[in-house]
Amino acid sequence: MNFFHFQITHKAGRARTGLLHTPHGPVETPLFMPVGTQGSVKGLMPRDLKEIGSQILLANTYHLLLRPGPERVRALGGLHGFAGWRGPWLTDSGGFQVMSLGHLRRIDEKGVVFQSHLNGDLVELTPERSVAVQEALGSDIAMALDECPPYPSSRAYLEASLERTLRWLERSLKAKTRPDQALFGIAQGGTEADLRRRSTLETIRFDLPGYAIGGLAVGEPKEAMFRMVELSTALLPEEKPRYLMGVGHPEDLVAAMGLGVDLFDCVYPTRTGRFGYALVPEGRLNLKSGRHLEDPRPLEEGCDCYACRTFSRAYLSHLVRSGEMLGAVLLSLHNLRFLHRLTEGAREAIRQGQYGDFARAFAERRFGKEI
Ligand code: GUN
Ligand code: ZN
Repeated sequence: MNFFHFQITHKAGRARTGLLHTPHGPVETPLFMPVGTQGSVKGLMPRDLKEIGSQILLANTYHLLLRPGPERVRALGGLHGFAGWRGPWLTDSGGFQVMSLGHLRRIDEKGVVFQSHLNGDLVELTPERSVAVQEALGSDIAMALDECPPYPSSRAYLEASLERTLRWLERSLKAKTRPDQALFGIAQGGTEADLRRRSTLETIRFDLPGYAIGGLAVGEPKEAMFRMVELSTALLPEEKPRYLMGVGHPEDLVAAMGLGVDLFDCVYPTRTGRFGYALVPEGRLNLKSGRHLEDPRPLEEGCDCYACRTFSRAYLSHLVRSGEMLGAVLLSLHNLRFLHRLTEGAREAIRQGQYGDFARAFAERRFGKEI
């Protein structure tokens, strides 16, 4: 039984549209996946996410392992039952969060040891434990435990680290027991072309249902990031989904979809929404600024989200400036809808064989970062 068939439906240059089947339904690609770190996309209910076109949510092994614990989630129906989102889930493996949250105590061949940010306990996460936790969480797609080295790192470190990540991938596969959960491998290698190539080619040898491009968007120059994405999608097998981890700026999605990336995730749309920013075709609206206080227009003319159908920039700016939680909720909703409309538009352009025109039209509307 193949739960995870991936079907490419159209191609335009290197860009493609596809359908990834999971045990909880199909997802259309290219696609942005909202981040629900603790099993909740901050401020948004599953019914809101459904309404704006979310198709798969991401949750984090690191956080759910510490609280409420994988066995409680399993007992309450896995993420699908526990968190009320009955569609597909993807879980990240935990390694990246250990590093980025700065609680890492030790990393060696066995795995990582970190200090819980909740009670200070030392917790060990090995490739086997990460698989076991993700199986208990019941996600449709699990990620193998990897190491995402900081930028910059020495060549020697990047090389040792990518080799260890490959050994962890092998152990992850051996530990896997659920046929209804796909395990994706993550290529590393920093921004060193030969190391990135080696990591990608060695990861492909495991013949996995999908592959992630990891270790990018960690502070390296954009140009270096896209050189790595281009090199990666040229090597990755055509017929498997490709997931660029941690990328969520609209212009980066447009460039990466053009290079053949299928899946994305990032806290950016929800986090920037909580900070009072709205994504718009021209860039980003700063609702904390006094300049929108008398503006009766919606955040974005033509946006079909509840925030744009219902409220003015003036009101939303008032909410943000008053610290009302509804402001954060509505901006998060609009920002996710903005990225979903962006990938919907990209899929339509790819179907029409006009992705180049789509990318040019997107670039032409952008003036600068902030309005
Ligand atoms: N999220 C963003 N980048 C990465 C990465 O390199 N590895 C993992 N596991 N998660 C990520
Ligand atoms: Zn909107």
